[in-house]
Amino acid sequence: MTTVVQVALADRPYPVVVGRGLFGDAPAHLPLPAGARRVLVVSQGPIVAAGHLDRVEAALDGAGLVHERVLVPDGEAAKHVEVLATLWDACAALPLERGDAVVAVGGGVVGDLAGFAAATYNRGIAVLQVPTTLLAQVDAAIGGKTGINLAAGKNLVGAFHQPVGVLCDVATLATVSDRVLREGLGEVVKYGLIRDAAVMELLEAAVDGADPHGPVRAWLTDDLLEELVRRSVAVKAAVVAADEREAGERAFLNLGHTYGHAVEALTGYAEVLHGEAVAIGTVVALRVGAALGRTPDDVVARGEALLAAVGLPTVGPRLDREAVWRVMARDKKAAGGDVRFVVLDDVAAPVLVTPERAIVDAVLDEVAA
Ligand SMILES: NC(=O)c1ccc[n+]([C@@H]2O[C@H](COP(=O)([O-])OP(=O)(O)OC[C@H]3O[C@@H](n4cnc5c(N)ncnc54)[C@H](O)[C@@H]3O)[C@@H](O)[C@H]2O)c1
Ligand SMILES: [Zn+2]
Repeated sequence: MTTVVQVALADRPYPVVVGRGLFGDAPAHLPLPAGARRVLVVSQGPIVAAGHLDRVEAALDGAGLVHERVLVPDGEAAKHVEVLATLWDACAALPLERGDAVVAVGGGVVGDLAGFAAATYNRGIAVLQVPTTLLAQVDAAIGGKTGINLAAGKNLVGAFHQPVGVLCDVATLATVSDRVLREGLGEVVKYGLIRDAAVMELLEAAVDGADPHGPVRAWLTDDLLEELVRRSVAVKAAVVAADEREAGERAFLNLGHTYGHAVEALTGYAEVLHGEAVAIGTVVALRVGAALGRTPDDVVARGEALLAAVGLPTVGPRLDREAVWRVMARDKKAAGGDVRFVVLDDVAAPVLVTPERAIVDAVLDEVAA
């Protein structure tokens, strides 16, 4: 069943469509600007090989749009100013004009890069996000954060640029690797912990008796996946609508990300995937919350058990402790030199805290393998 979740921003609300086979035989629902005539499609080789791009382009043909395709390199390295410049040039060559659009078909890398190209070309043109990884469907494609990396760090150049729509076709997830699919569950569990206990319950029931090291699709059925995407999208959409610029509530989406970012940064953004780092960071946040006397022991145990059961890491690599604190302190959640953590008073009851370093260090001693 196709469902539409609205991101209810006052000045430019947009739909997030969740379904299976959105680009099938029936004419696809394309929430593009009414006057759009030309479209730049940005994607990557593996997504073409999986057949997803052909279906999206057929839908664009069906809507009578002129389109050009640019494939960017695979992996985090694509979020680079030189690759961005090739997208700007492609926009100019088409040419895209005010009222036209960029369509991003891919994971978070394609979405962040193409979204930033759209944010900046011609002082901003529309972008339609078509996320094809679980992480991108439940997180990266919604909320308008776009950007590229610098040698000095990830996502250091970027803009808020809300898409005109997000099309989450759960059928595209059939071709992502086991590891990339599982990684997305790190963010799904996060939504369960901060807001929607039903996500926890659905996952707990599904993994019961399953082998955490076996293939994730042995227990993650298409129906369950669709329900998890729908619920996660609903949480992200509601939080973004309430706090577009991360002045308050949106910070709760950073559960697990304070230490998670340090793990990613200090392992070179390749060894540990984002969702895996978030899983390790979530364990840290749960235990810091417990050490502060806030998070009940059963909530810590429940969160850790679920992350382990879905096959995500709950302990991380041993890292240089001073380097960890340097990364965490320049993290965007840091305010006034203190490092802020999202911790839980309970499931669906997140709170921001600034714990003493000694408390965090004691937890890190346990969680760094
Ligand atoms: N903007 C945000 O709010 C936000 C939030 C979270 C993460 N991100 C960003 O997202 C990026 C990570 O995104 P990701 O985890 O989706 O990784 P990714 O975009 O690198 O995709 C992972 C791999 O899967 C391939 N792929 C994608 N969809 C496929 C499909 N359907 N079938 C086969 N292969 C497919 C890709 O080509 C790539 O090789 C990071 O750069 C991160 O900074 C952004
Ligand atoms: Zn994340």
